[in-house]
Parts: sequence; structure tokens; C-alpha cells
Amino acid sequence: MVPRARILGTGRGVPSRVVSNDDLSRIVDTNDAWITERTGIKERRLIEDGRVTSDLAAEAARNACESAGISPSELDCIVLGTVTPDMPMPATAVYVQQKLGISGIPAFDLSAACAGFLYGLTIADSFVRAGQYKRVCVIGVEVLSRILDWTDRNTCVLFGDGAGAVIVGPSEDPSRGILSTHIFADGGCAQHLLIPGGGTVHPTTPQSVADKLHHVKMNGREIFKNAVKNLASASIAALEANGMTAADVDLVVAHQANLRIIEAVAERIKLPLDRFHLNIQRYGNTSSASVPIALDEALREGKIQPGMRILFSALGAGLSWGSAMLRW
Ligand code: ACO
Repeated sequence: MVPRARILGTGRGVPSRVVSNDDLSRIVDTNDAWITERTGIKERRLIEDGRVTSDLAAEAARNACESAGISPSELDCIVLGTVTPDMPMPATAVYVQQKLGISGIPAFDLSAACAGFLYGLTIADSFVRAGQYKRVCVIGVEVLSRILDWTDRNTCVLFGDGAGAVIVGPSEDPSRGILSTHIFADGGCAQHLLIPGGGTVHPTTPQSVADKLHHVKMNGREIFKNAVKNLASASIAALEANGMTAADVDLVVAHQANLRIIEAVAERIKLPLDRFHLNIQRYGNTSSASVPIALDEALREGKIQPGMRILFSALGAGLSWGSAMLRW
């Protein structure tokens, strides 16, 4: 029988620097009331000077190993989702590996924006069920503050920095663990959220920098509409694949992009909002780190107990999105 994979431990690495909406109103033309009403965000964490993406990721990975009761030297593989790597080459995962004091195991990055963690979880689940690896570290990490346009109020108020990680390994109890994963993409919507510069379309030149092509560009309304539609359909795919209805779900750990997106999805899948773990007010949108940070928080707050059915969902640039159903 194909074994089931489960999450053996969780961890997070978040900056200590807290930046409130009022702080942002001193940088761009915005205010606490607008940000709170349109997004639900009150504050976000921004990385300290001198630290980089792999520092947050390694901190999350170390905490996840500790919670799984293993040493980093017992890891078989590191999968890291990010759109804000330490540098374009090599993979940020190899710097994480180095910071964990290990070598030899495979370590690679994947690019699925805010869905990066769910894509990584899907890969880890497959590795473990195939019997290839027994301890896979999946990391979602983002330091968007270093690539945002801090003069663009449409984007800079939305994001925060952080990392979350899980360790995935075989489950001794076949009724518990990762019950399903579903991942999707639609390149037809790529133009709605992107960083146009720095690749082969617009290599970095003085002109590309002057044109601000290295910053995040977003059509917020299109993203909002597609996020609600696709997060709801991915959630329903997870329910149907497991013969469940919304009433069977004990907790939803959804990507924290915008409270209004979460509210609209909750309404579409007919689940009360109190079934969702919410931390957007304190972290903003941490992209691929959002789901694993929320999971780690919910777990450490005692909100997750053995046997509970937990639904993950996330969507981001690509568009890339997905869901997973777990029995804890
Ligand atoms: N402060 C004050 N006013 C602002 C700000 C701001 N920070 N940003 C925009 N505005 C203004 C706009 O300029 C506009 O003014 P105008 O009417 O004079 O032109 C007005 O507010 C309304 O702008 P809208 O774009 O219509 O506002 P909307 O209600 O759509 O909210 C938002 C914008 C919050 C970006 C929303 O569209 C959204 O959340 N979309 C999803 C985007 C997202 O989550 N992106 C993250 C990455 S993808 C993901 O994680 C799912």
C-alpha cells in the first residue's frame, strides 16, 4: 500500500521589525482607515537591515526541525518556494542548506508565487508517498519589501516579509496526514501580477531600472476577482476529492492576501469565517510564507488537535493556485 505523508513539524521565521499602517502613511499617500477597510491589514513585519531571504528561511526550517524532533542533518531534501530569492542564481535553498550546516541532499527553489508553499507541499507529498524521501523540508519564504516600489501605494501597503516551513514524512497512521493536493495554473492571467524586469524579456539595464521594471506591478481588481473564483473552486475540489462537505472542515488555513478575499471565499464555499485562521491583520500578505506561518501559529496556539480536518488554499501570480486537505 502506498504510505500516506504527514506534516511532522512546523516552524516560522519572521522579522522583529513591525511597521504599522500609520508608519506607511508617512511614506506614501495612504491611511490606516483605507488599508484596514480594503484589506484587513493593520501591520506587517519587514526584514531588518543586513538579513536576507535565506536567513528567515533557515530560521523557519530550524524551528520546523525542532518541532518535528529531528536534527537538520536528518533532512533528505529541501524544497523552497519564493519569488524573492537571495539572488537569481543559485537557488536560495542551497544557502538555507548551508546555514543549516548540512550538505549533499537536494535543495531547490520553485516559482509559484503565493502558491509556492502548496506547490512545494505537493512535491514533498509525492516524494514521501513514492518512498523516495522520509524527511522533506518545505519552505515558503518572501522578502517582498526589497523589491516593492515604495512610492506605489497600490502595492506597497499589501505585503510583509516572513518564512514558514514544515517537515513532511511518512505517517504511521494511514487515516492521518495529507489526504489530497490540487494545484493549478493559468498563464492567460500572467499580465495581472508580475515583475517585468530582470529576466530575458527585459534584462536589467539602466533604462529598465529607470522604468521601474524591477518592481511588482499589479492589477488589483483582476487579481481579486480571480482569487475568489479560483480559491473557491480549489477548495471545492479538495472537498469533493475526499467525499466531504464544508461542514466536515474543522479549520481553514488560507493564503492571507486580503480579508475581503477570504470573506468572499468563505461565503462561496459556505463556511463561517470563524473556521478560518486569520492573521492578515498582523502580517499582511507574506506570499508563499503565508500558509505555513498561519499553520505554525494555529498549531502553537492549540487551535489544531489530532484528527481535525484542515483545508489549505492559496493563489498568486501566474496565476498559480491550489488546495490541500489534511487530517491532523
Ligand atoms: N491608500 C489609499 N488609497 C489607495 C491606496 C492606498 N494604499 N491604494 C489605492 N488607493 C486608491 C486608488 O488609487 C483608487 O483611487 P481612485 O478611485 O481615485 O482611482 C481607490 O483607492 C480605489 O482603488 P481600487 O483599486 O478600486 O480599490 P479596491 O477596492 O479594488 O482595493 C486592492 C484595492 C486592496 C489592491 C484590492 O483590489 C485587492 O486586494 N486585490 C487583490 C490584490 C492582492 O491580493 N494582491 C496580492 C498578490 S496576489 C495574492 O496574494 C492573491
